[in-house]
Parts: sequence; structure tokens; C-alpha cells
Amino acid sequence: PRPILLTRHGESQDNVRGRIGGDTELSEHGEIYKQKLAKFVEKRLESERAASIWTSTLQRTILTAGPIVGFPKIQWRALDEINAGVCDGMTYEQIKKNMPDDYESRKKDKLRYRYPRGESYLDVIQRLEPVIIELERQRAPVVVISHQAVLRALYAYFTDRPLKEIPHMEVPLHTIIEIDLGVTGVQEKRYKLMD
Ligand code: F6P
Repeated sequence: PRPILLTRHGESQDNVRGRIGGDTELSEHGEIYKQKLAKFVEKRLESERAASIWTSTLQRTILTAGPIVGFPKIQWRALDEINAGVCDGMTYEQIKKNMPDDYESRKKDKLRYRYPRGESYLDVIQRLEPVIIELERQRAPVVVISHQAVLRALYAYFTDRPLKEIPHMEVPLHTIIEIDLGVTGVQEKRYKLMD
């Protein structure tokens, strides 16, 4: 079986402040995670010379991939986090307070709700199609370092989960989700590298 390793970037400064979107650097915890991830990947993919590392175009994923050596790195805009449009940089509390109707609409239908001048989960799922095609075409392992909403969608695709579950799936920070696509089906392992 050929593993696909999915992980969110190390904790970012916006994660610490509870702000969505943005393009900040890693927090202290995030800095520790990127080192642990590099050690894990180098060991797990030791004999996999054709493996590659895919990130988004946002700093926090590129920085997270930084210490991993020996594999080519590819940046995909399609792996960028859901675009929160006018809400980019806000906290959920600020959205609730300043845009209560939007807050409620999203709560009611998180899959279809589209941020003003931004994206919905359905938009994200659609833009991931070329990434999925390319992932399926790969013969070698791929490490995907991306973001919460995007990884929910990718994970759901490979584990065959219904669309409506996607916005609510658990994809915690500092955890590697390994998906093995074998002939007998899909196997999953999770590695939590930090508490
Ligand atoms: O908070 C981190 C984050 O990646 C945000 O940038 C993004 O808007 C959010 O998670 C997506 O998760 P949810 O759809 O649950 O708000």
C-alpha cells in the first residue's frame, strides 16, 4: 500500500489568537511540531526515494515543511485554506457579534455557506479536484501539509465519507493522519506527535 500522510501546519500565531485565515508564521508550539514532523517523515519514508511533500502557498505550511530534507516540495494554491472573504482575520466571536446573520447561516448549513467574497466548503471541495486526480495518479507516498477545511475534504474523499459530515470532521493540529490505499481498501492510522 502507498501511504498518503495528511497533516495540518504547525500551530500558527493566528491559531493562538483564535483568528481565522491570515498568513502568519508558526507559534512556539508550531516550531516544535515542524521538527517532530521532519523526524517522523524522514523515518517513515526512509526508503521511499520518489516521495514528495505537498504544501499550500501559505507561509504556515511552507514553514512547517521547512526542516524536511531529501524530498521535492510542491506548492499548490488549491491546498490553501478556505477563503473566509470579509471575515479573514476575524475570530468566531467577532463574526458572531458583527455579522450575526452570517454566523447563524453558517451554523445552519456549514457545507453550503459561502463567506461574503470568499468560499464555501463546496467551493473548496470543487477546487480540490485536480489535487485529488494527481494524488490518485502518484505511485509514491505523498505528505500533504495543508489546513483544517481542506484536509477535512481530502480525508473524507479517501475514506468515503458523506459530504454533509465534511465540515464537522476532526482534523486536530499536530497529528498525522496516514491513509493507506491498498487493494483491499483503505486503512487509517493517526500519529499524535504532541499533546
Ligand atoms: O482556525 C483555523 C482554520 O484553518 C481557519 O483558517 C479556517 O477558517 C477554519 O480553520 C476552518 O474551520 P471551520 O470551517 O470549522 O471554521
